[in-house]
Amino acid sequence: MINTHVEPDAELAAIAQPTVYIETYGCQMNVSDSELMYGTLAAHGYAQVDGPDGADVILVNTCAIRENAETRVIGRLGELKRNMKPGAIVGVTGCMAQRLGPRLLQQAKHVSLVVGPDAYRALPQLLDGARHGERFSATDFDLEEHYEDVVAKRFEGVKAWIPVQRGCNYRCTYCIVPYTRGSERSRKLDDVVRETHAVVAQGLTEVVLLGQTVNSYNDGTHDFADLLRAVGAVDGIRRVRYTSPHPNDFSDRVIAAMAEVPTVCEHVHLPMQSGSTSMLKRMLRRYSREDYLACVGRLRAAIPGLALTTDIIVGFPGETDAEFADTVSLCQEVRFNDAFMFKFSMREGTPATRMPAEWTVPDAVVTERFDRLLGTVRGISREQNLMRLGATVEVLVEKIARDGHLWQARSRDFKTVMVPADSAKIGDYLTVQLTGTTGATFTGTPVKPRERAPLPMAAGAA
Ligand code: 5AD
Ligand code: SF4
Repeated sequence: MINTHVEPDAELAAIAQPTVYIETYGCQMNVSDSELMYGTLAAHGYAQVDGPDGADVILVNTCAIRENAETRVIGRLGELKRNMKPGAIVGVTGCMAQRLGPRLLQQAKHVSLVVGPDAYRALPQLLDGARHGERFSATDFDLEEHYEDVVAKRFEGVKAWIPVQRGCNYRCTYCIVPYTRGSERSRKLDDVVRETHAVVAQGLTEVVLLGQTVNSYNDGTHDFADLLRAVGAVDGIRRVRYTSPHPNDFSDRVIAAMAEVPTVCEHVHLPMQSGSTSMLKRMLRRYSREDYLACVGRLRAAIPGLALTTDIIVGFPGETDAEFADTVSLCQEVRFNDAFMFKFSMREGTPATRMPAEWTVPDAVVTERFDRLLGTVRGISREQNLMRLGATVEVLVEKIARDGHLWQARSRDFKTVMVPADSAKIGDYLTVQLTGTTGATFTGTPVKPRERAPLPMAAGAA
């Protein structure tokens, strides 16, 4: 990292209470990182604001996973340049910052700071330097960095994202993440449990444990099974989720913990990427079609009513018709509840860039395959949802729905359920009967009086 010589606290006094706005793109790890950045800056006297207008500091927390994620950010940086208040400091953080480093400072002259995911601790000092007109790129990896002493300033909502692992030791050939987030490291189990207690004290009842391959979690003493058991047993926690696991890291211990801990929800997001063994080999996913199916079988055998969702990439280099057909047929065989599908995007520096140019799948072919797969996945999802009609489930009310008249709630198995707004408030658990479905989401009618969300305890009660 390039260090600044400016004394932070002396500098801060110059502005009564500087304001900061962070705009977040990409995955839940980035959402969680933005909460850590707000926490770091709040400890140095910054006040959080909800929009870029008038903010003293604007940070854009970016994603680099696909090219279009980066294109969006470049466009947004241009917009901010036109609209920001004179003298405001703009910083770029996250995976795109890590990937481009000083190149971003050259490309965008109004950007003062480029800060990678392991350097957020230095933000207050870097901002003080930026106020003196200095420009920095801070992108060193720090394998010890877990931001343990930083109190995250959580966004409002009913669930808490808790990072338990940073970085990734896999090297899937399409993926930029190992280069933007560095090697895998796990937080200490005790620290995660302590944060879970703090989350309960804030009145939240659901936690989502985050890691790039979260079930490979190992803090030197404890594995992911221990972590699920420890977090799941925290008094006041009603729901534990985690994302995203890797199929190879589902040990029997982890599956047993999932099955035995009542608070761990019956849902696994299990990225498949492709249903073809030859394609999985080119992707360096380290499992075959049969291995993936075996993992699904073990999970389903242990956890009745398990919902499964997945990620799939269409058009990876060399994808043949037969390989794509294998992906479609694996979806039909597994019958996912839902899938996120992505058109392959070539990322600079990944092993895929070294594959022969003639392996490139033409855009028109990718689009046709994507649309076909989307039809298959949606059809399966609709069939399964229709079969759930009439079932009684517990939902947690999360937020107001887009139409403004209904609440959006979620079942343990990750279904979105719309409930009448007068039946509950955000944070309540309701027992509802699933009365209708659009094919993708449900409507639900309460069948029991609501259970009130716990009231937040006084600060320091944890
Ligand atoms: N192109 C398209 N999709 C990608 N993903 C990761 N890298 C790429 C890429 N280069 C997808 C994978 C992963 C999800 C988070 O993003 O499916 O699981
Ligand atoms: Fe990327 Fe593969 Fe690591 Fe997931 S497991 S973050 S896809 S390299």
